[in-house]
Amino acid sequence: MSNKNIVWHDHHVTKESRSKSKNQKPCVLWFTGLSGSGKSTVANAVEIKLNELNKHTYILDGDNVRLGLNKGLTFSDEDRIENIRRIGEVSKLFIDAGTIVLTAFISPFLKDRQQVRDLISENEFIEVFIDTPLEICESRDPKGLYKKARKGEIPNFTGISSPYEAPIKPEIHIKAGETTLEEAVEQILVYLRENNYLTE
Ligand code: ADX
Repeated sequence: MSNKNIVWHDHHVTKESRSKSKNQKPCVLWFTGLSGSGKSTVANAVEIKLNELNKHTYILDGDNVRLGLNKGLTFSDEDRIENIRRIGEVSKLFIDAGTIVLTAFISPFLKDRQQVRDLISENEFIEVFIDTPLEICESRDPKGLYKKARKGEIPNFTGISSPYEAPIKPEIHIKAGETTLEEAVEQILVYLRENNYLTE
């Protein structure tokens, strides 16, 4: 479909004014890591802390978004690329609304994460690598999916039959095997404080 008859509108209330009224600098904390690595757990714990500080936040979570907005997308490379592209666009809208967004998607491909980084303004994309070794994720297996994947019942399972490309220079690197949940949350909050995300 052609976009040639569609024109971008600038709105009167800007990202800056929306952020100012929320007393924060909007950004996306882009959690990436294997299934079962703890992305959602850490993101939720960070969101609780941010809400205690009266910050305006929103979590976009892989499993939930795939039940709604991205219903119908599979785990083929092509559909994962589309999954991440859409989440990048949605994150950009939330940032425009002045929100601190937390996304928890495996987002296994370097190129796709880079594309989201390029889509979003500088300093608004914070990559958080939840670096939990496959053995630990597999031993946790909270949803029983690794067991099924090993039996060949789930095709293209990340870490087993589909690749995970680890970030090269994430803004925040959480070595989950050696870090408690509290320490991980603190590491992220320190980054946000030191980089002035929590005050406008
Ligand atoms: S992504 O690769 O497209 O970023 P996403 O984060 O949305 O993945 O979804 C991952 C979640 O879907 C996993 O935590 C797991 O619960 C479930 N899942 C189902 N099939 C697969 C699969 N083939 N590979 C990875 N995760 C899967």
